[in-house]
Amino acid sequence: MVEITFVTNNGKTVEAPENSNLLRVSIKEQGGIPFKCGGGLCGTCKCRIEEGLENTDKIKPKERKHLKPEDFEAGYRMACQTFVNGNIKVSWVPR
Ligand code: FES
Repeated sequence: MVEITFVTNNGKTVEAPENSNLLRVSIKEQGGIPFKCGGGLCGTCKCRIEEGLENTDKIKPKERKHLKPEDFEAGYRMACQTFVNGNIKVSWVPR
């Protein structure tokens, strides 16, 4: 299992199986990451991996439409396109 901490949601921390989709865990556990499409199109699920960026999978082409190289360097990802294989802490801009 991995631990996911939703920093912007008062640090709510949940457990999930390895290689879980970040947005799906957020929806199931009421983590609070904003979303609309769930399919990599709208960009609403932009979030920042504060800790554990190395525990996320590779950047998808759909993410490159919404995020710049410097965003990725700063830890930004799109939650619906991101799978988690270790502990992470994630924040976002509240909507
Ligand atoms: S929810 Fe629309 S891109 Fe992730």
